Amino acid sequence: MTTYRVHKLTKRVYLLRLDDTDTRFFEGIWPIPEGITYNAYIVTTSEGAILIDGWKREFSDLFVEALESVIDLKDIKKIIVHHTEPDHTGSIEILLRLLGNIELLGTQFAKSMLEGFLGRALPFFKPLKDSEKISLGDVELIFLHTPWLHWPDTAMTYYPEEKVLFTCDAFGGYSIPRTVVDSSDDVISEYLPHARDYFANIVAKYSQHVIKAVDKLVSIGIDYKIIAPGHGLVWVNKPDIIVKSYLAWARGERFGGKFKVVIIYSSMYGNVERMISSIVRRLEEQDIELRIYKFTDKTHSNKSDVLGDAIDADLIILGASTYEGSLNPLIDSIVSMICTKFKGLRKRFIIISSYGWAPSADKELTKRLSEAGMEILKNVTYKGRPDKKLIDNISEEIYKIVNELRKA
Ligand SMILES: Cc1cc2nc3c(=O)[nH]c(=O)nc-3n(C[C@H](O)[C@H](O)[C@H](O)COP(=O)(O)O)c2cc1C
Ligand SMILES: [Fe+2]
Ligand SMILES: [Fe+2]
Repeated sequence: MTTYRVHKLTKRVYLLRLDDTDTRFFEGIWPIPEGITYNAYIVTTSEGAILIDGWKREFSDLFVEALESVIDLKDIKKIIVHHTEPDHTGSIEILLRLLGNIELLGTQFAKSMLEGFLGRALPFFKPLKDSEKISLGDVELIFLHTPWLHWPDTAMTYYPEEKVLFTCDAFGGYSIPRTVVDSSDDVISEYLPHARDYFANIVAKYSQHVIKAVDKLVSIGIDYKIIAPGHGLVWVNKPDIIVKSYLAWARGERFGGKFKVVIIYSSMYGNVERMISSIVRRLEEQDIELRIYKFTDKTHSNKSDVLGDAIDADLIILGASTYEGSLNPLIDSIVSMICTKFKGLRKRFIIISSYGWAPSADKELTKRLSEAGMEILKNVTYKGRPDKKLIDNISEEIYKIVNELRKA
C-alpha cells in the first residue's frame, strides 16, 4: 500500500518520503515490482520554510498532509525545483492553488519546462545562476547547476551549515528501502542493486555528465556529509558509497563484487537455449557472478533488471535467434536500449545465434553493437539445433575466455 514517512534528518531538515507501490512501470516503461520513493525535503529557518522538490501528482493530497505534519503550509516561502520531471513536480499544482504565486527557484531550463508541463506562464519562477545563494532567515543554501542528470534542467542544492547535499535524481534508486537512511550494511547491500537498475535505466545515457558533476562537486569543495536524493535511501552514514557507485557505473564498471557474466537470450523453440544452457553449466564451475535473463515461452525477464545487471558486467553473452530477416524482437529492443544508453561504455560481448534458412541475427547484432562502440569477442551462429560437438567446443571456448579475462 502506498504510504508516506516523515523523518527529521538534521536540526533543520525534514524528509518527506512517499513510498509508491502503485506505479508498476516507472516512466511507463521500466517494470519496478520493488516500487519507488519520491523524497521531498523541508528546510526550516527563522523566517519560514524552504521546500525542496515534491511528489508525483496523484499523491498531492498526501503531500499536503505530510507537509502539514511538519509545518504550517503558509510558512513555505520558497520552493526549489531541481528537476521538472513530474515524479518530483506533480505536487506543485496543488501548492500553487493553496499558496498562490509562491517563489519557485530552479534553472532557466526548469522554468521553461515547468511552464510547459503546467500549461501556464510562471512569472514568479526565479531562474538561479550557478552557485547562487538562496537565503531565508538564518539559513543560506547554495544552488548548483549540474545539467543533464538526466534532463537539461537538473541542479543540486548544498546546505553548508549542516553539510547536506540535495541531489534529486542523481544518487537516487528504485525500491522502497525498509529504512529511510543507510542505517546498516544490510540495508545498503539490499538497496544498491536497485540503485544500479535506476542508474542504468534512467541516468546511464548521461554517464559523462555524472562524472562531470562529481568532478565539479570536488573542485568547488562541496564537503557533504549527507546525500539527500529524490529517490531511495538518504545517505547519512556512508555517503561516499553511493557517489563511488554512481561513478563506477558511469564508467560501465563494477563497484566491488566478483567478475560478472550476464547472459541475456531469447529462444522460441529451444535452439538458442540448448547452447546457452551448456555455457551456463560450464561457467558455473568458475568463481564468478553469473546472471541469466531469458525470453522464452515460459519466462520473460524484467527489462529494468536486465539493463541494471548489464551496465557493470565484465562480459555480456547475448543469445538471439533469427527472426523475420532480423533478430528476435525482444532482444532487439534490449539491444537498442543497450546501444543508446550504454554508448561509449565499451562493454564486451559474445554473440550466440541460430537461424532456419538465412542467418541475420548475428549480422544485425554485430552491426549494432559495433556502431555503438562495443567490443565483440566472439560470434557464433548455427543452423537450427546445435549438435553436441559444437555445444561442447563453444562452451569450452567461452569457459577459457572468461577464465583469461578474470585473470587479466
Ligand atoms: C516467427 C519466426 C520468424 C523467423 N524468421 C526467420 C528468418 O527470417 N530467417 C531465418 O533464417 N530463420 C527464421 N526463423 C527460424 C529461427 O531463427 C530458427 O528456427 C532458430 O533455430 C530458432 O531458435 P530458437 O528456437 O532458439 O528461437 C524464424 C522463426 C520464427 C518462429
Ligand atoms: Fe528524472
Ligand atoms: Fe526522478
